[in-house]
Amino acid sequence: MAENTNAGNAGKKANIGVVGLAVMGSNLARNLAHHGNTVAVFNRTYARTETLMKEHGTEGNFIPAKTIEEFVASLSKPRTAIIMVKAGAPTDAMIEALADAMEPGDIIVDGGNSFYQDTIRREKAIRARGLHFVGCGISGGEEGALNGPSMMPGGTEESWKTLGPILKSIAAVAEGEPCVTHIGTDGAGHFVKMVHNGIEYADMQLIGESYDLLRRGLGMTPQQIGDVFDEWNKGDLNSYLVEITSEVLHQVDAKTGKPFVDIVVDKAGMKGTGTWTVQTALGLAVPVTGIAEAVFARGLSGMSDQRAENARTPLAGPDGDLGIADADKAAFVEAVRQALYASKIVAYAQGFDEIQAGAKEYGWNIDLGAVARIWRGGCIIRAKFLNRISEAYDNVAAGKQEPFSSLLFDDYFKQAVESAQDAWREVVAKAALAGIPVPAFSSSLSYYDGLRSKRLPAALIQGQRDFFGAHTYGRVDQPGAFHTLWSGDRTEIQTA
Ligand code: 6PG
Repeated sequence: MAENTNAGNAGKKANIGVVGLAVMGSNLARNLAHHGNTVAVFNRTYARTETLMKEHGTEGNFIPAKTIEEFVASLSKPRTAIIMVKAGAPTDAMIEALADAMEPGDIIVDGGNSFYQDTIRREKAIRARGLHFVGCGISGGEEGALNGPSMMPGGTEESWKTLGPILKSIAAVAEGEPCVTHIGTDGAGHFVKMVHNGIEYADMQLIGESYDLLRRGLGMTPQQIGDVFDEWNKGDLNSYLVEITSEVLHQVDAKTGKPFVDIVVDKAGMKGTGTWTVQTALGLAVPVTGIAEAVFARGLSGMSDQRAENARTPLAGPDGDLGIADADKAAFVEAVRQALYASKIVAYAQGFDEIQAGAKEYGWNIDLGAVARIWRGGCIIRAKFLNRISEAYDNVAAGKQEPFSSLLFDDYFKQAVESAQDAWREVVAKAALAGIPVPAFSSSLSYYDGLRSKRLPAALIQGQRDFFGAHTYGRVDQPGAFHTLWSGDRTEIQTA
């Protein structure tokens, strides 16, 4: 492709700029250019900017800049720049450089996977200087950045007025609607993106457990399991992650002719967003058990010393064979599908609980129905059943349905879990008997049963706490706080 010298752009200003031209940044810049935006582009090393111009400069209107000052000068007001550099110190450095070169009213957008607390801090500091700072979660990977991501911007209403139409022009479209909405002020966008990633972890772990049950438990081949996922993708489980699972399972290693999945080291990496989701949930006292188990399962996969020791001196237990007769295998596959669906509902319910708790804690007015809607396209967890989630929240907002305290109490999901629960219990029980770890399946089921329980053993825990620490307890038959004189005559006194 001929190099675009941008002679035609002389004197023309860019309505948006992108800083940081690694794959995500350059794909986002191209996406913006494809949709009629004039895009200023800047990278710390100019060679990258040159490469973008050389390879893609004719795809739309770009204004390449050699310095940050040149970049800022090429933007029309209010100047709007999206930073696509590594989270942490590089992002801080770039925000500082832009803020120094910009003027009050201008908008700095951080499109990376930043921790929402950092975004809250940065927004406060930048706002004090009269500029807008928008932490914007962007999901969909490299492909999404180029062809339509799902985006979760925070920041002020005022910044959304400028940024909204630009983001809408490049977002994925689901059922005619762009997959972007103004999530809330300051760190709300990055908070929601963080929970998105936590749900992504849970979803992937649940899919992994399903695969393990079929592979180890039933002795099916990766190809056969890939076919199963293809089938599942036609129904309630229809989603991007189920679709790509089938592709990965059908992949054959060119070097060895073995299934691809068998030549990959079984140690799952993580960049930290799942951990943030769980740490944050712990702080907010929201039990996101499915997400937590998914993070821990990745951690366990990386415990090389312990796994090596087990290889030398194996811990005792069954070998993973479910012992299911050929004639009954199809029924078990169907049971796993139902267990996956029920556990997935729990994981999403927990994720939405965390968003709700975060909104309450930080004073964000987050429209949960809108969050579900913008996750229907472009992002990694895009799935058919998000339609059901958005419907449930929208119905409550429109007064068509009684508010529910958890998605699990919404009629549709309540019934879905009800009809899947026999299969779910069978799968968890059989997995335990065969020695196949299903931490996300079983913790989701325990969570469900915990919610259903009329009485929980928490009463006993309160008794223990009162015994050793005089922490007091409440009584079922009267208000107030009570303490039993455990080391005395064991009479009860009312303390509040
Ligand atoms: C997305 C992804 C993206 C990235 C994850 C991977 O929404 O596009 O979530 O953000 O792929 O950070 O996370 P791990 O490396 O932690 O698995």
